[in-house]
Amino acid sequence: MIGKLFYGTQTGTTEDVARRIRENLPELIVECRNIYGVKKEEIAGAELLILGGSTWGDGELTDDWQDSWPILNTLDLTGKTVALFGLGDQVGYCYNFVSAMKLLYDKVKERGARIVACDISADGFDFEHSESLVDGKFIGLVLDEVNQPHKTDERIRQWALKVRECVGAIV
Ligand SMILES: Cc1cc2nc3c(=O)[nH]c(=O)nc-3n(C[C@H](O)[C@H](O)[C@H](O)COP(=O)(O)O)c2cc1C
Repeated sequence: MIGKLFYGTQTGTTEDVARRIRENLPELIVECRNIYGVKKEEIAGAELLILGGSTWGDGELTDDWQDSWPILNTLDLTGKTVALFGLGDQVGYCYNFVSAMKLLYDKVKERGARIVACDISADGFDFEHSESLVDGKFIGLVLDEVNQPHKTDERIRQWALKVRECVGAIV
């Protein structure tokens, strides 16, 4: 399965996290880059899409994802598998923690994608509200590099296992 990881970032934190996600899924992710400037054909060429980034403003996507929105709006993701990840700050933005991931979730779902590894436990986090919490579970991998950077590697590892399991079940 050809997988590509595309990320959005405002200040670069997600870039390093994206690299670490790729290291955990080396056999699946053939490309890992910022979503800025990515063409429709490049996204369409992947069977597996790992999409993510940080939340900005108050629950909003980063500028690079917002710039790519018109492309996403015309993509047919039928038959594609998508896994999502999001970065946020559960202390400073406890009322909209990683909420932007839900915007991506809704969009790829609308475009026909099958979303996997989307029932992630929120144990170990402490926040008031997140749009990305659905039925008590996170809809993707959630990371907090501001307050819990020491937990990032293990969270990525566990989630990557789930992604691999789900993809294996589909192939
Ligand atoms: C102005 C500003 C707004 C932010 N808004 C949110 C938010 O609404 N929700 C959240 O969980 N984190 C929020 N954050 C935290 C960032 O998502 C977090 O610092 C993240 O690690 C940044 O990643 P990046 O460098 O890849 O953009 C905000 C940070 C800043 C500076």
